[in-house]
Amino acid sequence: MRVVEKIAEIKSIVRSQKRTEKTIGFVPTMGYLHEGHMSLVETSLRHNDYTIMSIFVNPTQFGPNEDFERYPRDLDGDLKKAELAGVDIVFIPTKEEIYPKGYKTYVNVEGITNLLCGKSRPDHFRGVTTIVNKLFNIVEPDKAYFGQKDAQQVAVIRKMTSDLNLNVEIVTCPTIREDDGLAMSSRNAYLSEKDRLSATILSKSLFEAKELINKGERNREKIIDFIIQRINTEKDAIIDYVDAVDGDSLEQIDFLKGNVLLALAVKFGQTRLIDNMIIACE
Ligand code: PAJ
Repeated sequence: MRVVEKIAEIKSIVRSQKRTEKTIGFVPTMGYLHEGHMSLVETSLRHNDYTIMSIFVNPTQFGPNEDFERYPRDLDGDLKKAELAGVDIVFIPTKEEIYPKGYKTYVNVEGITNLLCGKSRPDHFRGVTTIVNKLFNIVEPDKAYFGQKDAQQVAVIRKMTSDLNLNVEIVTCPTIREDDGLAMSSRNAYLSEKDRLSATILSKSLFEAKELINKGERNREKIIDFIIQRINTEKDAIIDYVDAVDGDSLEQIDFLKGNVLLALAVKFGQTRLIDNMIIACE
């Protein structure tokens, strides 16, 4: 496995791989790797001749009062996991390599970035689409792998890819969960033991809401109220949002029909967790 810090070096490796017509799979991450990340890697390894992973804690997607500085980092551990999994190249650029002095260009998807997580994280998706676009230009992947865990992120990236005619296929991979249902996340490392237990209410409430929908409930308000009530049984949970939107367009819906995305963000202390579920409603 090669570990590369420089854009010029990645570009030259990519050029020689393309000459031999090898397909390139790409898994962008911010590191502190867990089984969720590794499931994307495994899928990329199955689909492609060559797999590139990036590890870069991207400053432009963090708000001024967010956790950029204290975001968990473990480069040595990450490199071991990547090597064991069979990743071909890990790209670990510095902040200066990606955003040199005088950097001025941002990519912004409008509309769908203002709802759900976008309401409380106003510039977050602009940072995500900017870095992902840059990484796509650097790595030139045939396919890029993203987790359903960040449902809005993958919807926004799909929109960017289609609107800007990017030559990459976006592959969405299922959310990997702990045994008790908590969606795996690098940020779970922040949780106290008590909050870690309380946080299981997020996936429980989504699974229970799914059961109600499968039994025929189609009233959006009722489902949202049900999830809010269930989450509020944990007194340390502070709800940012609970919403039900169209799973493909993220547009608001009046009642549940087609592919519905139930999505939520909840804070435990300083730790903001997200989870979601896609439910097919007839
Ligand atoms: P990060 O949070 O490190 O996640 C990297 C990728 O792993 C994302 O596509 C995310 O959806 C996926 N992922 C995280 N937890 C998962 C889980 N439990 N199951 C399945 N997939 C999971 O998302 C980012 O980094 C950044 O925004 C990035 C796209 C790298 C841009 O900076």
